[in-house]
Amino acid sequence: MIRDPNAGAAPWVPVGGGIPELAGAVQACRGCELWRPATQAVFGAGASPAALMLVGEQPGDREDLAGEPFVGPAGGVLDRALTAAGIGSETIYLTNAVKHFRFEERGKRRIHKTPAVGHVTACAPWFDAELDAVDPAVVVCLGATAARAVFGRTAAVGRERGRLQSARGRLAMITAHPSAVLRIRESGERAQAFDALVADLRAAAEAARSAPRDR
Ligand code: URA
Ligand code: SF4
Repeated sequence: MIRDPNAGAAPWVPVGGGIPELAGAVQACRGCELWRPATQAVFGAGASPAALMLVGEQPGDREDLAGEPFVGPAGGVLDRALTAAGIGSETIYLTNAVKHFRFEERGKRRIHKTPAVGHVTACAPWFDAELDAVDPAVVVCLGATAARAVFGRTAAVGRERGRLQSARGRLAMITAHPSAVLRIRESGERAQAFDALVADLRAAAEAARSAPRDR
């Protein structure tokens, strides 16, 4: 029988593993077709356990080469936003909904392509294992793909952003993806979008601080 190429990551996810075990195992994953053209899987990184977990979409071009999440231009925006929000990056766990870079080749350039719902679903066993291992009080979804992974539904980022909602027995907030801030051409509007991201991150961190430790 030919295996469905997007049947999902479950057979590759070690049961009960901590982040180091999971990060070691992810390179072997063949749960969807995205592994093939990518350089490597990019697993989450940071503190574990952590009260605050941030979730992006998928690694970008730079992350695919470096093997670390958020080390490219969007990561630069995120770093500045975390600093402005008073959040030490060493205190959080940072990951992506999908662990391999999806792209289209255009000449020598690799152009980011948004992962399909099927890729998010296929990769969910990794994300779910991270959620168990990191056990955050608050999960921040950076954009709609992360919201899909956390809430299991379509989210309207513009309408829902900044609200503390409930998901997976924790608090979860949807906010803008830092690359959405980067894409804004007009500098005043871009600054406003950046400030809104900072305000959301600050509120999420405050909620994580005041959450009971033994949820
Ligand atoms: N964008 C993401 O969503 N994640 C990364 O790791 C980098 C860019
Ligand atoms: Fe596995 Fe996720 Fe990579 Fe697909 S994107 S091969 S499910 S790690």
